[in-house]
Amino acid sequence: MCYFGGMEDPVGHLAALHCLLSSVLICLKLSGDRAEKMHKIVIIDDTQINLTLMSHLVQKLGDCEPLCFSESAKALEWCRLNDPDLIIVDYMMPAPDGLEFTQHFRALSGKTDIPLLMVTANDHIEVRYRALELGANDFLTKPIDKTEFLSRARNMLALRSSQKKLANHAEWLACEVRKATEEILAREREIVFRLSRAAEYRDPETGAHILRMAHYSKHIAQNMGLSQLDQDLILEAAPMHDIGKVGIADGILLKPGRLTPEEFEIMKHHAQIGHDILAGSASPSLQTGAAIALAHHEKFDGTGYPHGLRGEDIPFFARIVAVADVFDALTSERPYKPAWGLERAVALIRDGAGSHFDPGCVEAFFTRWENILEIRTRFQDGE
Ligand SMILES: [Fe+2]
Ligand SMILES: [Fe+2]
Repeated sequence: MCYFGGMEDPVGHLAALHCLLSSVLICLKLSGDRAEKMHKIVIIDDTQINLTLMSHLVQKLGDCEPLCFSESAKALEWCRLNDPDLIIVDYMMPAPDGLEFTQHFRALSGKTDIPLLMVTANDHIEVRYRALELGANDFLTKPIDKTEFLSRARNMLALRSSQKKLANHAEWLACEVRKATEEILAREREIVFRLSRAAEYRDPETGAHILRMAHYSKHIAQNMGLSQLDQDLILEAAPMHDIGKVGIADGILLKPGRLTPEEFEIMKHHAQIGHDILAGSASPSLQTGAAIALAHHEKFDGTGYPHGLRGEDIPFFARIVAVADVFDALTSERPYKPAWGLERAVALIRDGAGSHFDPGCVEAFFTRWENILEIRTRFQDGE
């Protein structure tokens, strides 16, 4: 039997797919970067001769593409849609001037780290202080000095390259962490599955039973508005509901006829044993499994076991599992009884709403009736 072949795990698969796509995108991005290798340098100055001069100097830097703007508003719009590697902006310009441009540019999404050089006169010290406050990284002094320009521009581009490498590395690292986490979760699911299988060897209930009741439980949870995470959790944890039966003697567990009252008292211990096997784990699946194992025989009116919990004092997941488990047990053949017909089982579940079962869970179960029938067909005994 392939348990996970039948288990729905859209979250895990999507995360793995997303991770793979991210890796591919990073690789494409890196190869694209290598192919282009051109830094985009935005130069903004309302004087054409300055633009020509700086454009010429930028080309001397190598691997740089100058993008010249004589109107700062147009430059800002271009920057809103693109990511330059360096901005060189004049201070003295028609609005927005260099300071206003810097302020607007830094307010754009994702532009806080792009290096920005402002061109000012040396005696504009107040302007320089203000520019630093607004996010300028360095200054070029008017009139432009070739050596100073090339040196400062190179420094800024080195900074930009480091930023990009760091960002790519962080993205790669995050992807690796996601992959490792997925692997751990997959191992955890496998351990849960193997634990449930170990119990199957001693339990007359079949593997198909735990698959059906787990999927019924997920549908009830979904219909009751539980999150995707909780739906997946109940799907993983419900199969462990009877794991405590490993602690019950064969003479009772495998008895073909009805249990005596004394034997039934011993049988009841499987709830506490199951809880004790699973409790204390850091794994959310095992924690949930422990709560379900302990409370899946509690009844809504307080007449269940082991603690006679009533109503909402019974953990929600256990109330859901109770409906799914009993319905499937009724409609399955057991050593001590034939399988009940659907009509009879449906009547018992409906009658049990408010006494044995949480009425909300019963309603959710029947709202998903089409799905329940599909699950019954999908997971059949003896497969
Ligand atoms: Fe049980
Ligand atoms: Fe069961």
